[in-house]
Amino acid sequence: METKIPDANAEDSNEAVISVRDLRVRYGEREILHGVTFEVPRGQTLVILGGSGSGKSTLLRTLVGLERPSAGEIWIKGQNISRITEGELDVIRKKMGLSFQGGALFGSMTVGENVALPLREHTKLEDSTIQIVMRLKLEQVGLAGFENYNPSQLSGGMKKRAAVARALSMDPEILFFDEPSAGLDPIIAAGIDNLILKLQKAFRMSIVVVTHELASAFLIADRMLLIDKGNIVAQGTKEEMQNSKLPRVRQFLDRIAEPEVEGEMDYLQMLTGEAPDRSL
Ligand SMILES: Nc1ncnc2c1ncn2[C@@H]1O[C@H](COP(=O)(O)OP(=O)(O)OP(=O)(O)O)[C@@H](O)[C@H]1O
Ligand SMILES: [Mg+2]
Repeated sequence: METKIPDANAEDSNEAVISVRDLRVRYGEREILHGVTFEVPRGQTLVILGGSGSGKSTLLRTLVGLERPSAGEIWIKGQNISRITEGELDVIRKKMGLSFQGGALFGSMTVGENVALPLREHTKLEDSTIQIVMRLKLEQVGLAGFENYNPSQLSGGMKKRAAVARALSMDPEILFFDEPSAGLDPIIAAGIDNLILKLQKAFRMSIVVVTHELASAFLIADRMLLIDKGNIVAQGTKEEMQNSKLPRVRQFLDRIAEPEVEGEMDYLQMLTGEAPDRSL
């Protein structure tokens, strides 16, 4: 093993590409994330799990600088992005690809124009080069030849893949996906999973994915974290999560509907003075 020297530019494979410490985020008076701490090692996929409204999208939006933290630190590639200017943030954003929940393609542009957009906005590349990169990215997601289609002419899965192609256009080092396969049929969703796996394995990208789909989560994750009402309740490798005995983890992974469990507990406890027997 090599000796690890702390260095912002080190390309050590064990280095955390994202390091979040005690992060708090609020919308107005309402705090949504109550101090979350975790790391994403370089070249790994972190899956963020949690119920609806738990703060997953907020966390992702904060990681890419769309929301500013009210407290805590976010280190991305050795820079604390909660302390830098918009200009400096723009430089880091170019290293990040985003595919957001409901992250629509622009309907007024062709698929190719959508994929080329970040290149037009953020680079001075010539049009002919942009065309080549755009075609390459569409090819990478299995959409070669669809550049002149309008987004409305694509299926749901194809739209998602086109959005991934757009996220890849700037050759990002870190990719963020919010619900990449939500609303897709299982076969198409599996295609998106395979695409994410390919990006991670073939290009050593560091990837953060928010998903509700447990099968998908266990397929693509190296590490997972479970967030509940703005707090991390568990994190670890997918094996550690799978074997966890923490009730909140079991409840989520075994998919016991939360309000029913709590409501039923309260009601039965009130009647009998003891917790209900859930064994079958
Ligand atoms: N722009 C906003 N302004 C005010 N409150 C917001 C905003 N975005 C989200 N929230 C609130 O923050 C909380 C967390 O929302 P968030 O979108 O992060 O949840 P989520 O875990 O992604 O849920 P889902 O699984 O349904 O996508 C919710 O209570 C939501 O109402
Ligand atoms: Mg969300």
